[in-house]
This record gives sequence, structure tokens and C-alpha cells, in this order.
Amino acid sequence: MPEKIKLQKFVDELPIPNTLSPKMRHYNNSYYEVTMKEFSQKLHRDLGPTRLWGYEGTFPGPTLEVMKNEAVFVKWMNELPNKHFLPVDTTIHGSEITVPEGRTVVHLHGGRTPAHSDGYPEAWFTRNFEQTGPLFEREVYTYPNNERATMLWYHDHTIGITRLNIYAGLAGLYLIRDKHEQSLNLPKEQYEIPLLIVDRSFNPDGSLYYPSKPDQNDAGLPQPSLVPPFDAETILVNGKVYPYLNVEPRKYRFRILNASNSRILTLKMESNQPFYQIGTDGGFLETTVKINEIILMSAERIDVIIDFSQYYGQSIILKNVTKSATPETQDIMQFRVIVPLRSIDTSSLPFYLGEIERIPRSMAKRTRYLTLVRVKDQYGRSLNLLDGKMWMDRISERIEVNTVEIWRIINLIDDDPHPIHLHLVDFQILDRQPFDVSHFQKNGNLIFTGPPTPPNPYEMGLKDTVQTPFGYVTSIIARFGPFTGRYVWHCHMLEHEDYEMMRPIEIFEAHW
Ligand code: C2O
Ligand code: CU
Repeated sequence: MPEKIKLQKFVDELPIPNTLSPKMRHYNNSYYEVTMKEFSQKLHRDLGPTRLWGYEGTFPGPTLEVMKNEAVFVKWMNELPNKHFLPVDTTIHGSEITVPEGRTVVHLHGGRTPAHSDGYPEAWFTRNFEQTGPLFEREVYTYPNNERATMLWYHDHTIGITRLNIYAGLAGLYLIRDKHEQSLNLPKEQYEIPLLIVDRSFNPDGSLYYPSKPDQNDAGLPQPSLVPPFDAETILVNGKVYPYLNVEPRKYRFRILNASNSRILTLKMESNQPFYQIGTDGGFLETTVKINEIILMSAERIDVIIDFSQYYGQSIILKNVTKSATPETQDIMQFRVIVPLRSIDTSSLPFYLGEIERIPRSMAKRTRYLTLVRVKDQYGRSLNLLDGKMWMDRISERIEVNTVEIWRIINLIDDDPHPIHLHLVDFQILDRQPFDVSHFQKNGNLIFTGPPTPPNPYEMGLKDTVQTPFGYVTSIIARFGPFTGRYVWHCHMLEHEDYEMMRPIEIFEAHW
């Protein structure tokens, strides 16, 4: 543990990440170049500067803002040093193969992306593409953006070190716009604000602190072994520790992402005023939901409207009321409603937001039962696994393209919920149902101990990451397409993802 440093809250103004301009635009296509670099940045008035890794040398990286159906090409370039500044393991997935430390690959989280551009964990590359992973595909990635308007994010996805690369700063936002969104007359421009929330710990010299992991487990054997999720000590929004934002007494739209490695955030306004939630991971909800507390796990996004019109003259803290939060992590940021209203707020707070196409259960070609389970192997190493399998085990999730499946995720791990994320698809949550865990462990079959509960109103939209609580079967439904190839599904607690809680998905074309 590092020596505790106390940072004064609400002394830095909330930064807004820059929007990146394309290098070239041609009709409906645009081409971007993004360089990953090591750099230093002031994260708080009394701290650092802090050494980071980031896209275009900023943290968060610049925002990419695109229109639906605009074809976007991005050349992701690695100019990172070959040596990591955070503690990297010398072996990966228990093998003795040594892999370069400065490796990286980019995934657009929530994107419906062709497999060659999805950032497969083994498609990594080092500085100037000098070394590449076994499944490296191409230097320029393609994003068709044929999904609904929403906020995605891009981040590192390198096998074995995603938790370190994202912690070092490799994350940024990606907004897809469409005509429907424009027609809703929501607060926009300076009244639409992204909030990328993370937790980080610091050493007294301002450098990032991340615990190093012993090379061996308690049994004296090489890793892998369970690495506990790391909850850091301070909260940052858009790259500043506990920032403040001066606002007018009117409506604002906030696009919120929990980009923490593992921390669970429970958002609540100190004033007790509601959030009007209009969207989730995969875009708008059908109807606006008025809600006072929102739980966001790693990678989840929400789109909310907050109305400050009744609060002129007040300062309101956005709190994190998660039970396990320390006094340092109970505050996220502060809104100061002190700017006089510039002009009348003509934006709307619509109740009806548009239809969501729901997949009926009867469309499902197959139902999979998949466990989340903690195992001890013969050497006494403990691991969380997806369906009892390791990353290198043979692919079991093989799905014919464009077919519908129901996945029933059976959580047997007596701990916090796991945020389970599937690449390529947006899914709907069907329900969650409690079952008899010890009976399942003895006999392998499900005895439900209560009725299924529908998703929460704020989860009724499309999701790409779902909270799966212990002792429940969480059911989701998705159509797996439109692309074929190799994708992944995993726990988005990055310490779990890096240590075996990730599995491939193969989407194939049927040949008759
Ligand atoms: Cu946000 Cu597979 O990742
Ligand atoms: Cu997990």
C-alpha cells in the first residue's frame, strides 16, 4: 500500500476531452490517425504531473464523434516504450512465453465491428508494428457505425495486461450520432457533457500506484492465480481528481461511463434530485426513467438529464453511495449552479424516446447455460472462470451468424456481481432468477428459489455489459451478427479479465 496522500476536493475544473478531427474525409468516409504515447499530465492542482500512457498523449483520449453509417477508418499507432511503467507479470496465462511489455491493441467497446478490427486480445502490436501478436490482422481498423446513436468507448484490450494499459490511461470516448437523436431536442453543445469516471491511486511523488503481483502464488507456483479486483483510492472525472463544474440553472445532458478497472459506482446527487435516464449502453431507452440512484459497473454507460433549474446558488456533489466506498471515494465531482442563465432553456425532456426492437424468446435457436465459477486447480491456484474453462481451452461458444441465442449466466461466485460483456452484439436482459446454489454445486441442475425478476426499468434498453449477481441466473438474448470471425466475451472487471475470465466466441457462416 502506498503512503496515503490527501488531495483537496473540487479545486480543478472539469476538463472536456477534445474531439479529434479526421485526417481525411471523402463522402461518407473518414480516416483518422491516433498515436499512443507516454506523456505526463496534471491530474490535480497539488499532484504530479503524473506519467501516463494515452491516445494522442492525453487522458482521456480524444473523443471521436461520427454519424451513424459513416465508415470510419482508424490507424492506431503505437509509440509507447517497450517497457511498462506499471508492474507487468513476466509470464502470461501460466506459460513461460515472454511477451513484449509495450504491446497494445484497441477495442471499440459496444461497437458492431468486423472481427479483423475488433481488437482481438492476441492481435496486439508493439511500437511501429515491430512485433505483432499471433492473431494480428491489420494496421488500419474499420468501423461501419451502423448502430443506433449512443456513446461507446475505445480502450486497450491486450492479452494479459489490459488492466495495466487502461489504468495507465489508454481509454477514450466515441460518440455515434443520428437523425433521430437530433429530432429529440435534447440539451446539446456546451450543455451535453461526457463524464468518464475512473479510480486511481497515487504515490507521494504523484506517480500512479498499482499493486505488484507476486510472480508466484502461495503454493510457490507460477501464475495464473486470482488477482483481486483493485479498487483505487481517489476518483477522477475526465482526467481530474474530484473536479467541479460551473453550471447554469437549466437542464444538462450527461453521458456517463464507469471506466474504472473494477470499482462499482452507485451514483446519487447530494441534493437527492433525480436523474432522468434516457439511454444505456446501446442507445436510447424507450421511455425516460426517473431514478435517484444508478449502479454502474466497469464499462457500463448511462445517458441522463439533470435539471439544475431549481438549484441556483447551490453546490451539489455527485456522490458514490456504494456501501464499500471509503470517504475518499464517496465523492465524485461537484456541480456549482452559479452561472446566470444565458438564455431560456428550450431543450426538451421527452418521455417517449422511440421504439426498441425486441427479440422474442421464440426466435432463439439455442439456450446456453454458462457458469461463473471459482475453481482451485490441482496446484491450489484459485481462479474465476467462465463456464469452468480457461482462455486457451478449445472454443465452445460457436454460433452460426445471425442466429438468436439465449445465454443463461449462472453465477456461483459468492462475491460482488460480475459485469459480463459480449463483443459485437447488443443484447436485451430477459430476467434474473434466484436458484439453490448448493444444490446446483452437488447435482448440476437448477432449482429456482423464486420467480424471475424483469430487468430494472433503466436496463430495459440495449446493453452490452450486464450485472450478474451471485445466486442468480441472469438471462440475456441476442442476435449474433452481422459479422463472422473471432470475438470474445468476458468479465469487465479488468483484473478478472486478465486472469482467465475471458473466452473466445466464434461466429461462423454455415456451409451446406
Ligand atoms: Cu470494454 Cu472486451 O471490452
Ligand atoms: Cu469478474
